[in-house]
Order: sequence, then structure tokens, then C-alpha cells
Amino acid sequence: MTQDVHDAPGVRDGRGVQYGTAVASVYDSLIAPAMPAEVAVDRLRPYVAGARVLEVGVGTGRVAVPVAALAREVVGVDNSRPMLAEFRAKGVPANVSLVEADFRRPLPLQGRFGAAYSTMGSLACVHSREELTAALAHVREVLEPGATLSLEYYSTAVYRPLVDLGTVTVPMPHHGGTTTFTTTVDDADVLTMGTLVEKEGEAPVEFAEQVLLIERDEVEACLVRAGFAVQEVVPAEELLPYDWYTARGVA
Ligand SMILES: C[S@@+](CC[C@H](N)C(=O)[O-])C[C@H]1O[C@@H](n2cnc3c(N)ncnc32)[C@H](O)[C@@H]1O
Repeated sequence: MTQDVHDAPGVRDGRGVQYGTAVASVYDSLIAPAMPAEVAVDRLRPYVAGARVLEVGVGTGRVAVPVAALAREVVGVDNSRPMLAEFRAKGVPANVSLVEADFRRPLPLQGRFGAAYSTMGSLACVHSREELTAALAHVREVLEPGATLSLEYYSTAVYRPLVDLGTVTVPMPHHGGTTTFTTTVDDADVLTMGTLVEKEGEAPVEFAEQVLLIERDEVEACLVRAGFAVQEVVPAEELLPYDWYTARGVA
């Protein structure tokens, strides 16, 4: 995909990839420690144990590595070469394979999966409800009948107040230094979050990401249109800024 009207400068590259080398370089030191994988893995356990599992937007393997210890096989899809390179550099478990692919297109995967999941809002990296529905349908197409999709999606209850604040600077306990977030949302509900990481003695790191910020009932409507029945929604709680959806593919 080429740049479209929503793209702030530097958000996507010429192939439509959002997560470039800057974000990949700080993902494991800055972002992953703030989001321990345990809660996600506990929620996923009943669906992934012993199964062939798909992770959509696998990133650097924050969740895929502990899930691989429970699952028979994990296939991780991501369209960011730098994020996949970070994962490969750490060592990929023997039962995990990585596929560079864009979930906005049909997934180039062999065989069906007994479960799928997408954490930290990966599937929200779209520009419209139609694009989200299409991406969810691409996941649905590679699932066995009745298999479960577990989906972490940006919570409006958490992100709309951030938009109202505009720019916020916070100390980074795991990383040192500060991070400044600048958050805006446009008329099509595309949220742009700019991140500036600053630490004394190090070059600043700056990147931006865009996600579709829509209400819970609209996420549920996209799931239904994509061929899922929504089983449960757990609203964002404590420090987690995502709602958690559990949906089953309709045969
Ligand atoms: C916030 S990271 C989450 C990574 C991982 N799931 C985790 O929980 O740590 C979002 C990931 O989604 C990937 N992503 C975004 N848009 C994508 C697309 N269109 N196709 C495939 N992957 C995409 C990004 O490259 C990035 O690795």
C-alpha cells in the first residue's frame, strides 16, 4: 500500500509499513517491559495449549515466545522487516515460524489454525472500519471452523483522554530518561501518536504510529461482519490500555 491521506509524515514507508528501524530499535527496551506478557498469556492459555496458532502482528516475539512454550506450533505474521529482524536476532523458538506479510491483504499461509491472537492493538493499524473488517476476514479465512481469535484493541476510554491532553511527557522507569507522546485524532477516527524518547548521553529516537480508534460496539460490528461471533469483551483495566475481545469463527 502506498501512503494515503491519513499518513502523517514518517508514519508509513513506501510499502505501507508503520514499524520502521527507529521503533524496532527501542521496542524491547522501552515498550515491551511496560507491557508484561503474563496477562496476555494467561488469557490465551485455554485456546493456544497444544494448538497450531497464528499471531497477527508478531513484532519482536514478546508474546509469541511464551505462547510457543504452550502451543504445538506458532506462525507469526508481520509486515515490518526491522521488527522481525529484532525477533530473529534474539533467537526464534524451534516451533515458531515468521512470515513477512501484510494483514490488509489475504494471508499467504498454508493450512488452517486452531487459534489466532493479536496483542497490543496490532490489528488496529488500519485506516478505516472497512480495512479492519477486511483484515479480520483475512484472519477468519485461515482459521479452522469454530477456532478462537483473541484480540487486544485500543480502548477509547484510555486514548480519548490522551487526545484531550495533546502532549504528555513521562519518565521511563525501565529505560531511564523520558518519553513524550503527542496524540491527535482526525475526522475519520485515525489516531496518530508521535513518540519521542530522550535519554541523556543518547541520540533521541522519534517515531509515529497510526491506529483506528473506534468504540467497542464498532469493533464488535467489524468482527461480526468478518465472520466472528463475539464471546466476551474485557474492558481495559489497571495499566493496560487495550480492551480484550474473544471471538469465535462462525462456521
Ligand atoms: C504494537 S506492535 C505489537 C507486537 C506484538 N504483538 C506484541 O504484543 O509485542 C504492532 C505490530 O503490528 C505490526 N503490523 C502493523 N501493521 C501491520 C500490517 N498491516 N500487517 C502486518 N503486521 C502489521 C507491526 O509491524 C508491529 O510489529
